[in-house]
Amino acid sequence: LSVATNFDPPTDTSMNAPLALVTGGAGFLGSHLCERLLDLGHRVIAYDDLSTGHRSHVDHLAHRPGFRLVVHDITQPLPDDPALAEVGRVFNLACPASPSKYQLDPVQTTLTSVLGIWHLLQLAERTGARLLQTSTSEIYGNPQVHPQVESYPGHVDPVGPRACYDEGKRCAETLCDAFRRQGRADVRIARLFNSYGPRLRPGDGRVVSNFVVQALRGEPLTVYGDGSQTRSFCYVSDTIDGLLRLMESDCSGPVNIGNPDERTVGDLADTVIRMTGSGSPIVNRPLPADDPVRRRPDIGLARERLGWQPEVSLEQGLGETIGYFRRELGLDVPLRKLA
Ligand SMILES: NC(=O)c1ccc[n+]([C@@H]2O[C@H](COP(=O)([O-])OP(=O)(O)OC[C@H]3O[C@@H](n4cnc5c(N)ncnc54)[C@H](O)[C@@H]3O)[C@@H](O)[C@H]2O)c1
Repeated sequence: LSVATNFDPPTDTSMNAPLALVTGGAGFLGSHLCERLLDLGHRVIAYDDLSTGHRSHVDHLAHRPGFRLVVHDITQPLPDDPALAEVGRVFNLACPASPSKYQLDPVQTTLTSVLGIWHLLQLAERTGARLLQTSTSEIYGNPQVHPQVESYPGHVDPVGPRACYDEGKRCAETLCDAFRRQGRADVRIARLFNSYGPRLRPGDGRVVSNFVVQALRGEPLTVYGDGSQTRSFCYVSDTIDGLLRLMESDCSGPVNIGNPDERTVGDLADTVIRMTGSGSPIVNRPLPADDPVRRRPDIGLARERLGWQPEVSLEQGLGETIGYFRRELGLDVPLRKLA
């Protein structure tokens, strides 16, 4: 799938090409972003501690001129790397995104958001690089306003099981905005809603990869609660396109980047079963504490300021994702043609 972008590509891949730093560059979204930036003619340094990301996500980029992966934990001071002085764009994606992963070490998760952005903002202040923070719809918590608009301040429990992620991301937004208010850094804040696509990890606990892998293996699809809770799923190419447009816009945000096509989790399970041709049943399990009931972005601001809206339908994106997992898992389950 290729999605048009008005992000203006430099064509120079030599040492003069613009240099971007992508933290979390070996993760799901980060690896796609590195790839897109290289395609657009940028040089890219990826920092990643490989806690939820994998080298295999960027192995195919290793031979490309201008790409470098550095194993680094952003809770630690940045490495003494002279190349950092040349960085013009910093994309901060480092942070585990799946609840089952970010709850494993809540202290590290909180510090990744708070200390990580602190280190990167200081770099941006020192070098004049523009910094984009990937925030999240989770900052709205279990929202009492629907759909979620950027002006809604959220409904988050600061000591709930998701707080390490939600509050860490909220504090990172606060620090970015504080640097902006004081004229110390040029920042952009993107609030991402569920994104999915190839390179999600099987078994990392996200609903799309869970369902697709379970359906392809013929295992029961685990639906938490009665499946009536809603999510809005944005295909990865649309998400990356939104991030690039925001970075190059004059809008500091926060801006919601997500797909307003709201679906119940039960509907997603049915769609995955239909598209994989799987005979898997659905089993219901108790809803985890703090699980948001409804999620849908209001993307009016992104439409107006970035000229961005998602282009890939759920069925198209699921088709790509199912194809990816079939190859990854080496499973030979025929795809049923969509009616
Ligand atoms: N995918 C989504 O649906 C979604 C939604 C909202 C926000 N986001 C945000 O987008 C970013 C990327 O998410 P993703 O889905 O690609 O998740 P991911 O877990 O696949 O990627 C995160 C990457 O960050 C790395 N990382 C974690 N802690 C680090 C640290 N301390 N130092 C250096 N690297 C570290 C991991 O190894 C991984 O490669 C995250 O910040 C996440 O909060 C994602």
